[in-house]
Amino acid sequence: MLQFEHVSFSYRDAPVLQDVSFFVDAGERVGLIGANGAGKSTLMKTALGLLTCDGTITVDGVVVQPKNLPTVRQALGYVLQDSDNQLFMPTVLEDMIFGPINYGVPRAQAEERADAVLQQLGISHLKHRHNHSLSGGEKRLAAIATILTMEPKAMLMDEPSTALDPKNRRRLIHTLNAMHVTKLIASHDLDLVLETCDRVILLSHGQVVADGKAKEILRDKALLEANDLELPFCLTEPPK
Ligand SMILES: Nc1ncnc2c1ncn2[C@@H]1O[C@H](COP(=O)(O)OP(=O)(O)OP(=O)(O)O)[C@@H](O)[C@H]1O
Ligand SMILES: [Mg+2]
Repeated sequence: MLQFEHVSFSYRDAPVLQDVSFFVDAGERVGLIGANGAGKSTLMKTALGLLTCDGTITVDGVVVQPKNLPTVRQALGYVLQDSDNQLFMPTVLEDMIFGPINYGVPRAQAEERADAVLQQLGISHLKHRHNHSLSGGEKRLAAIATILTMEPKAMLMDEPSTALDPKNRRRLIHTLNAMHVTKLIASHDLDLVLETCDRVILLSHGQVVADGKAKEILRDKALLEANDLELPFCLTEPPK
């Protein structure tokens, strides 16, 4: 579903991604972890064609390049780290149905989908709210609701739990686990990664330093600490 082959990217002269290669099969649930500045968001932006890189990225068999971007973005639902830029219609509902209607789904059906997603995320009360009046966590949920309504083949989520209160974070985890689509989730919330992903890719200074079972990598204290990370809270022993 997602293929990164020898992907490198630099902002001006500063290399950010260095020869990154990995495949994500259809239906896989992959966490992307790494310290601040490791290159997680940059990697997601290259997959969406927002940044142009060296190497080849393929989404569902389609090479990410300018002429293919409409197809790539139809296949990929994405939540960027800064979801402020993602909501552009006046209200939450209009944002949610914009994509599906654009791809030919009748309005009534798009609204039905939107209602189901709003209910699943527990935010039906936000349906007619103006995007600019939402709180930080509400914006995050609205951005997530928008991509869920698209029913994409794969989802790229950059820090999906940021700004969510514990109950909404828990609902998000349930929602993600109930959706059987390919997922690549970048997050510092390693407990969320442990609960929602089977595989983890660890990035450090723009390079893949580990790629394997989530349960193994997220329990490997030495590996995590060597890459400026810490064990998930649920695996941390209480202080004596
Ligand atoms: N627009 C930009 N111009 C120049 N450098 C940038 C730009 N955006 C990011 N960088 C640099 O690229 C590197 C990787 O940034 P990126 O946002 O991909 O990291 P990240 O792993 O997502 O970090 P975080 O965990 O803080 O979100 C960092 O050193 C960052 O300072
Ligand atoms: Mg980031």
